[in-house]
Amino acid sequence: MQVLTTQKEIVRQIEACIRQNKTIGLVPTMGALHQGHAALVRRAVAENDVCVVSVFVNPTQFNNPEDLLKYPRTLDKDVALLSELGVHFVFAPTAEEVYSAEEIKTAFSFDFNGLDQVMEGKMRPGHFNGVVQIVSKLFELVHPTRAYFGEKDFQQLAIIHHMVERSSLKDSFGYLQIMDCPIVREESGLALSSRNQRLSEEEKKTAVNISQTLFSSLEWAKTASVAQVQQRVIDTINAIDGLEVEYYEIVDKTTLQPTSTFDNAIGCITVYCGPVRLIDNIQY
Ligand code: PAF
Repeated sequence: MQVLTTQKEIVRQIEACIRQNKTIGLVPTMGALHQGHAALVRRAVAENDVCVVSVFVNPTQFNNPEDLLKYPRTLDKDVALLSELGVHFVFAPTAEEVYSAEEIKTAFSFDFNGLDQVMEGKMRPGHFNGVVQIVSKLFELVHPTRAYFGEKDFQQLAIIHHMVERSSLKDSFGYLQIMDCPIVREESGLALSSRNQRLSEEEKKTAVNISQTLFSSLEWAKTASVAQVQQRVIDTINAIDGLEVEYYEIVDKTTLQPTSTFDNAIGCITVYCGPVRLIDNIQY
């Protein structure tokens, strides 16, 4: 496995792979890897000739500077895990290597057809512009045959699908398949997240209530309306000491707009567990 830190190096390696007609799997990450990432990487290794994992805490997708500062960085540990998993290239550049001073200063803007106006997009203005900015750069550099993303960030996944399917980008990214990968959970049900590293043991136990409530809501949905289930999830979680719901919205999986039926519906939640912002979702 090679760890590459410059665009020049990664482009050189990718050009060699393309010359040999190799398929390329890309797993974009911000590091602090856990078994959820490992599941994406295992798939990428199994389904492609070459697997590239990017490890880059992307500054342009953080609207809260403190969040960026506190984001866990564990590159040595990440590299050791990726080597065990059979990855060929790790791309771990600095922000200066990826962005010009101009790009860091000027907000990147992309038309999301409204997908960014709800939930995470509403709470974190500019977040998805930053995500699309880095993901499109990575696609251009790595030219992946397949790119792997977790369903925990469901809105991100919907936006990335939109990005590659948009007609003006079809020519650039039409060759590429976006691979949706299911949420990986601890035995307790807690969705794996790099942010879990910031939870104390006590907070971790409290956080389990988030997924447990979402699972219960599948039962509630058999006899209650969308609005009733939505409110019951919020009330149940807010009643637990140490948890505070930022939003829980049951939306149509395709449009991400509020829905009044459970057909094609997903419930997306963000909860503060102490100072740590956790997200999860459940498909009805
Ligand atoms: O999901 C993430 O970890 C990030 O948003 C991504 C896709 C790696 C872009 O920085």
